[in-house]
Amino acid sequence: MNNKKIAKLNLPNGKVIELPVISGSLGPDVIDITSLYRQADMFTFDPGFTSTGSCKSDITFIDGDQGILLHRGYKIEDLAEKSSFLETSYLLMYGDLPSKEKKLEFVNSITMHTMLNEQISNFYRGFKDNAHPMAILCGVVGAMAAFYHDSTDINNADERKIASYRLIAKMPTIAAMAYKFSIGQPFVYPNNSLNYSENFLNMVFSVPAEKYEINPIFADALDKILILHADHEQNASTSTVRLAGSSGANPFACIAAGIASLWGPAHGGANEAVIKMLNEIESIDNIKKFIDKAKDKNDSFRLMGFGHRVYKNYDPRARVLQKIAEKVLKEKHLLDNKLFDLAKELEYLALNDDYFKEKKLYPNVDFYSGIILKAIGFPVSLFTVIFAVARTVGWISHWNEMISDQNSKIGRPRQLYTGKPQRELS
Ligand code: ACO
Repeated sequence: MNNKKIAKLNLPNGKVIELPVISGSLGPDVIDITSLYRQADMFTFDPGFTSTGSCKSDITFIDGDQGILLHRGYKIEDLAEKSSFLETSYLLMYGDLPSKEKKLEFVNSITMHTMLNEQISNFYRGFKDNAHPMAILCGVVGAMAAFYHDSTDINNADERKIASYRLIAKMPTIAAMAYKFSIGQPFVYPNNSLNYSENFLNMVFSVPAEKYEINPIFADALDKILILHADHEQNASTSTVRLAGSSGANPFACIAAGIASLWGPAHGGANEAVIKMLNEIESIDNIKKFIDKAKDKNDSFRLMGFGHRVYKNYDPRARVLQKIAEKVLKEKHLLDNKLFDLAKELEYLALNDDYFKEKKLYPNVDFYSGIILKAIGFPVSLFTVIFAVARTVGWISHWNEMISDQNSKIGRPRQLYTGKPQRELS
């Protein structure tokens, strides 16, 4: 890190203060304002954190203008093509891809943690039978601290590791059980002879009464979807996990907080909205009408799956997902799939429209993911749950990075108070 550059700030009282400028390994420099309050008796004001870096991190880098996403230096496209979800998980957690031996050890450890304490199934039975799977996921993950108290000491590296492995391993089991409960089917136990994604498919789709054949193309597509959603730097849910963890809260509570944040429609819920929108558009002849609606300042309608706070170029994950969609639909003999045809035509027309070009609005990760999940057979209510399964490894990696950082402090933003001044109570 180079601390020699300085930014000068002219204060309204005429005082000039100097603030160090720090360079990372990639991306824009940052102005270190940690001494600002001490020097200037002022805070910064940045609701939505559009100009604020909240931490240092070695995990993920995004260049939104170029459409680049790197995990530990590797391009997301390469990871999706050449690695598995568990290899990418190891990379996110430990910084490098695993050797053959390390991979075996890691996959083995995760696989050995897939089962849930049997008492947890009683906990499920307390939910209402039509509960949304995300509501159940949030509650059960939060409750894990009550079942796995032996891995909640955040100052113990071994306990942190066990908690991390438990979360990555058990999340598909918890997610599948949430779904099974919501549709009144019996829980399906994990099968450790299957890989991570195969096991997830089996727990979601198999029933005791019938044999379920796992389609390798679907399992591969799901694995790639998990890789593509595994981490995305300091997004709302990851920042939530870090903030919750900064107080010393246990990892299960922190991940439950991340799930709650992800559930919001502005974050993890957009893939569902894309499917709804395509159904509404209904036919290629109607696309122009919807594009015009999206451009109309007086209409609140937006093209779902288009635009991104960080990407002002094609989201690299959307490109990979378009190819996966083609493969999955071909496998289902659905290449003339109406939703996919609509999506491709909509993308083509929007990308060639001046409004979308000028505002740099491109398809994001949610544009094609719903089409793939729907073709595999996942119900819409599980879309965000699958996102949470994938993102758990990102949350865990950031949580571990924060806890291991000796300089990390409790997160405590300040505010611009706009309420009543002090007054007397008569
Ligand atoms: N359709 C039409 N116009 C849009 C769209 C869109 N999808 N997205 C942005 N715009 C326009 C806005 O109206 C605004 O226009 P203006 O400058 O004339 O006011 C301009 O582009 C900038 O938009 P902002 O909302 O200011 O950009 P911001 O970075 O805050 O929002 C967001 C990004 C929320 C993703 C937005 O693009 C959007 O609502 N997209 C649709 C929902 C979606 O797909 N969300 C998933 C994001 S990916 C994820 O979270 C996993």
